[in-house]
Amino acid sequence: MLVTERERLKDDIATWTGTLGKDRTALIPILQEVQRKHGHISDFAMQVVADQLDIHPVEVFSVVSFYSFLNFEPLGRYVIRLCQTISCDMAGKDRVATQLENDLGIEFGETTPDGKFTLQWASCLGMCDQGPALLVNDRVYTKVTPDMVHEILEACRKTFGVYALANKGEGH
Ligand code: FES
Repeated sequence: MLVTERERLKDDIATWTGTLGKDRTALIPILQEVQRKHGHISDFAMQVVADQLDIHPVEVFSVVSFYSFLNFEPLGRYVIRLCQTISCDMAGKDRVATQLENDLGIEFGETTPDGKFTLQWASCLGMCDQGPALLVNDRVYTKVTPDMVHEILEACRKTFGVYALANKGEGH
């Protein structure tokens, strides 16, 4: 990580501890902010958060390990989370999962080499009567079939082209 990135991260964390607090109750909200703005929670970020909240880095590490929405590694531009809880399981989530893995050439828990897609499992998304359910970033898809997987991925790829153009020259 470049020094300037570290400085930026440090400044951001100082800002968030200023607004969210400096005790343990602020730990998860601060980590969510780190994740949202910096894409993942690096070793350096965990150390800074621990210093700022005056807690042991192992405590921060445990929280990041426990929650699936917090990640040690950078995620893809599109994070696809497929529900693996029982209703979606019975509604055919395995066939959707296989289609996703085949289309993207990665397994769950991995990110495509171009950084566009990450596949993750999720627990119940609250759409149990409309499974299989999946999330693409913040957007929910229900009653997903293997055929729909192709359309969903194509929509992301098209949007990614626009996103990449819009961010050209900004180092993204
Ligand atoms: Fe999949 Fe509830 S079991 S959304």
